[in-house]
Amino acid sequence: MSEPAIECCNVWKVFGPNPVAHARTLKQEPSAGSDGHVVAVRDVTLRVKRGEMLVVMGLSGSGKSTLVRCLSRLVDVTDGVIKIDGQDIGSLSERDLIALRREKMGMVFQSFGLLPHRTVLENVAFPLEMRGQSRSARIARAREVLALVGLAEREDYYPRELSGGQQQRVGIARSLAIEPDIWFLDEPFSALDPLIRREMQDEFLRLKQLSDRTIVFITHDFDEALRLADRIAIMKNGAIEQCDTPDRIVLQPATDYVARFTQGIDRARVVHAGALCTPLNGSIVEGAPVASDVTIRALSRRLVAETRALIPVADSQGHIIGSLNRTQALDLLLGEAQ
Ligand SMILES: Nc1ncnc2c1ncn2[C@@H]1O[C@H](COP(=O)(O)OP(=O)(O)OP(=O)(O)O)[C@@H](O)[C@H]1O
Ligand SMILES: [Mg+2]
Repeated sequence: MSEPAIECCNVWKVFGPNPVAHARTLKQEPSAGSDGHVVAVRDVTLRVKRGEMLVVMGLSGSGKSTLVRCLSRLVDVTDGVIKIDGQDIGSLSERDLIALRREKMGMVFQSFGLLPHRTVLENVAFPLEMRGQSRSARIARAREVLALVGLAEREDYYPRELSGGQQQRVGIARSLAIEPDIWFLDEPFSALDPLIRREMQDEFLRLKQLSDRTIVFITHDFDEALRLADRIAIMKNGAIEQCDTPDRIVLQPATDYVARFTQGIDRARVVHAGALCTPLNGSIVEGAPVASDVTIRALSRRLVAETRALIPVADSQGHIIGSLNRTQALDLLLGEAQ
């Protein structure tokens, strides 16, 4: 299927006294003064494929939450078009928009957004109630997802009786309950301690493999982004500096800002053999092949032990697609130590 799940064309979100006029001014004259406005999203264009996981990163205030709120039309854009499954969501009536959110979208908010007067179980069952599911069906489903996030024992508690991390997990369970096609998550694991965070990431990857759910995920944590992302979008002052695979973000940063953003990252853990592989052009490369989806870090023993200059690289079907230059791979591996 070629149509993207989410399409965002030249989207602007400006806050202030005269947002539309200010966006127009900035289009003509990008360096115009702010005149009392904040440009939270600046001319963002991106496409997210069905089943893809896009991770949005950037410093605090760079516009991540606002962009995601635009994508789900929790805020109206100042300018530009957003399409979900080919449908322009700016043109939907309030009723159709509610239906779209109820049927297709799940959201986990940075601030949890739980209902304070409902128990954990009732909070998680709430979106199913909005869908008109029977009480017994929604309670059963709510229990199922609460068990997934490790909160089965807490179903009768109220949000105020939970820690921040537990509240966050209730928020995740609530949005998971409806099995959304498109899932927006705004720093969903930020309040979790490292061990639970990693467990949640693993669970998340497992869930991702079970469905072709499209996911937009905000995080401040580069390691988290690298574990989860198909592509990473790096934002600065409301604009996307680069939106690319993790391999290309670290190998070919589009701007100095992106290069600085990824400084200190162990690149050998990010880059896969396939990203460094060059075509054979008819020549034959001897030796056992390495898989293109293996990281350079995972190949370190082989790289050190190998004596040949070139190592064949195979795709997932075992076909040789090119060769890996051993010196280049070793440079990446040892780069930090040089
Ligand atoms: N309702 C609003 N009114 C005015 N300004 C706003 C509003 N919402 C967001 N902003 C501004 O837009 C900019 C982007 O905010 P946003 O919340 O999208 O950033 P963020 O990248 O999610 O930051 P963080 O990492 O801290 O969550 C900020 O300068 C913020 O002050
Ligand atoms: Mg935010």
